[in-house]
Amino acid sequence: MADAAKRKARTAKKDKGKAAKRMRLSQFWHPIATAEEVGGQPRRFTLLDEDLVAFRTAAGVTVLKDLCIHRGAALSLGEVRDGCIVCPYHGWEYDASGACVRIPAQPGRPIPAAARAVAYRAEERHGLVWVALEEPIAPIPHVPDDLDRDPAFTGEVFSVLEWATSAGRSTENSMDVSHFPFVHPELLGDPDHPEQEPYELHAEEWGQWFRVPNQFWRSVDGTQNARITYVYTHVYPFTMHLHVTTDGDDSGRVMSVMVIASPTRAKETRVFRIAFRNYVEENANFVSDYLHILEQDRRVVESIRPEEIPASLKEELHIKVPDLSSIAYRRWLEDVDMQGVLAP
Ligand code: FES
Ligand SMILES: [Fe+2]
Repeated sequence: MADAAKRKARTAKKDKGKAAKRMRLSQFWHPIATAEEVGGQPRRFTLLDEDLVAFRTAAGVTVLKDLCIHRGAALSLGEVRDGCIVCPYHGWEYDASGACVRIPAQPGRPIPAAARAVAYRAEERHGLVWVALEEPIAPIPHVPDDLDRDPAFTGEVFSVLEWATSAGRSTENSMDVSHFPFVHPELLGDPDHPEQEPYELHAEEWGQWFRVPNQFWRSVDGTQNARITYVYTHVYPFTMHLHVTTDGDDSGRVMSVMVIASPTRAKETRVFRIAFRNYVEENANFVSDYLHILEQDRRVVESIRPEEIPASLKEELHIKVPDLSSIAYRRWLEDVDMQGVLAP
């Protein structure tokens, strides 16, 4: 085939691929903040490259695009007064629906219908504020076995971290057990036994789950150790649940950590972690041990290039064990436009 014909065929193939992409990340709920981070005065957050302003009134949490329609000032620099956000530049006031209700320079004159801030859907769930920038095509990620509604369980947001990587890479790291002996030697993995047993992957409409028994665990101070079983539940696109039980422990103690990677920007991620537990945590070092392990992860995960998961499964190299879950995830991602809402 001549070069021109080859190029044409390649372009046609690319265009076909583009047409097949049907989902956008802006069509899913993502957390932007913990409930505590959103108070009575405005604060700026970012989701999918979109700057947002969030504040709390008697009616609940309001999330608007952080932009005044008048001259483009950041509303987050203003203040909330009587349930409305007041622009810092010329004082236009917007209510929780985004409608402009006051233009101080022209009191008594009709307010143009176009004088609105863009308002987004916002919900509080699991101690976090979730936002969907477009009509969502999936619910806010559920917690397996409804642990969040089980009165025997408490839920605690114990960590919020910002990582210089994509939400996809961060999520893949959360479900990858084969890095344990190398990134977390003597803590989560036995460096003398890096072999991985095959596991069975269960596909669901909302994602996938799999069980990994008999895993190494030791506390950072070396005083406690156990064998543990993980059940990984991945709710697409960016929520992982790690259901943890200790092998041989018949006390019924369960901890399930919900890890949600929020795509702040293409290469920046805010990762929220919530622990659901049906017992009182006795390990005083639980959070510091966890943060120690996450710091070991961060070094390596932030080094990954490209920062975003390649658009095609043909890129990078996968082996069936242990990459099975990652392969399924990447297949699903092939149908997602990984760009933010601002992408063309
Ligand atoms: S820019 Fe907001 S009131 Fe003028
Ligand atoms: Fe890790």
